Amino acid sequence: MSAGRPLPVEDTHCIQNPAVDQRSCVHLSATPESAVSPYACQRRTTLENHNKIFTEALEVLALNSEFSGNQGSCLGFRRAASVLKSLPAALRSPEEALRLPCLGDNSRAVLEEICECGSSSRVEEIQNDQRYRTMKLFCSVFGVGPKTAESWFCRGLKTFEQVLTEPSIRLNRMQTAGFLFYEDISVPVSRAEAAALKMMMEEALLFINPSATVTITGGFRRGKEFGHDVDFIIKAPEGQEDRILPAVIKRFKSQNVLLYSDFQKSTFDLRQLPNHRFEAMDRFSKCFLLVKLQMQESRTGRNWRAVRVDLVAPPLERFPYALLGWTGSTLFERDLRRFARLERGKLLDNHTLYDKTTKTFLPANTEEDIFQHLGLEYIEPWQRNA
Ligand code: CTP
Ligand code: MN
Ligand code: MN
Repeated sequence: MSAGRPLPVEDTHCIQNPAVDQRSCVHLSATPESAVSPYACQRRTTLENHNKIFTEALEVLALNSEFSGNQGSCLGFRRAASVLKSLPAALRSPEEALRLPCLGDNSRAVLEEICECGSSSRVEEIQNDQRYRTMKLFCSVFGVGPKTAESWFCRGLKTFEQVLTEPSIRLNRMQTAGFLFYEDISVPVSRAEAAALKMMMEEALLFINPSATVTITGGFRRGKEFGHDVDFIIKAPEGQEDRILPAVIKRFKSQNVLLYSDFQKSTFDLRQLPNHRFEAMDRFSKCFLLVKLQMQESRTGRNWRAVRVDLVAPPLERFPYALLGWTGSTLFERDLRRFARLERGKLLDNHTLYDKTTKTFLPANTEEDIFQHLGLEYIEPWQRNA
């Protein structure tokens, strides 16, 4: 600014980044001072997305790859979208994308087409594809994943009505609830509704164990205005964590506000740490619920709506790792783990952080402690929308 003109990039302009070799950082021509890291945990990604037109297209491609069982290409498109979400301004030309990490040939081709024509023919083709549309519709039901959706589609089913009237289909308990409350669950949950649910949780905890506290995690902790569910983490007094969730479920049942519950008992065992295998789920006591939220009036004419609620109750000393893991976003978490493993020789999951070199567990009282152990600048929850 003092020179009054753009200057060549020097080392002093780069964000201090001991982990990633400077060569793997990328300089955007428009903002020479900001090197973009290939790791989402080294980027600050707020909800202000300047590249929506590109990221929405890339997300269609990612979902299509996921539906085709192509995990690698799905992750490639998701990573590309995530990098664009972190940029401080809109891409002005496809050439700028050449300087960004994680943008492969397929992603760049889409950006080029959108820059030239305003839209991508490949993306439009997918959006009009019968299989893609049907898979997306089926996957929007609570309890239905790509595998089930595909098996229904392969049997020639295209609508909910066809699924529900097909005699050979046996829905499980979760899917039954998913169809029964589809109208409610498919409407995004607002921040105000999340706050009302938090009060319900606090009221229940006051009754069960007044020293337990509840914190919103997931998308709402990252500042989102709407979510597909509300995620809560419960901090229980030492040794009390396994009693809390069954008690919450019992309380909600007695209040006649529980529409569905899937409680998963803790299988957490200190002696099994660290876990070298990747597991999608952690081992803490958790439950996936459908709860009645009282409302003044709803579209359906009843005075409540159904809301998806996730609860997790880790042991007290595991709280910071679990809070970090449940705050997301999914890609942010994935890159935190990848960064820990590849750049730091450490294993991170929702339970612990382990140093493979010194063979020690790294203690943490806060999320900040975990970032510090990893030699990462602290990223606030609202900057984790990768
Ligand atoms: N998560 C997890 N273990 C699970 C389930 C979820 O660690 N068994 C984490 C995921 O990494 C995710 C976060 O919990 O980042 C919240 O999950 P989810 O509710 O699916 O996503 P949100 O980011 O909250 O998105 P939305 O607002 O649509 O709910
Ligand atoms: Mn959520
Ligand atoms: Mn959730």
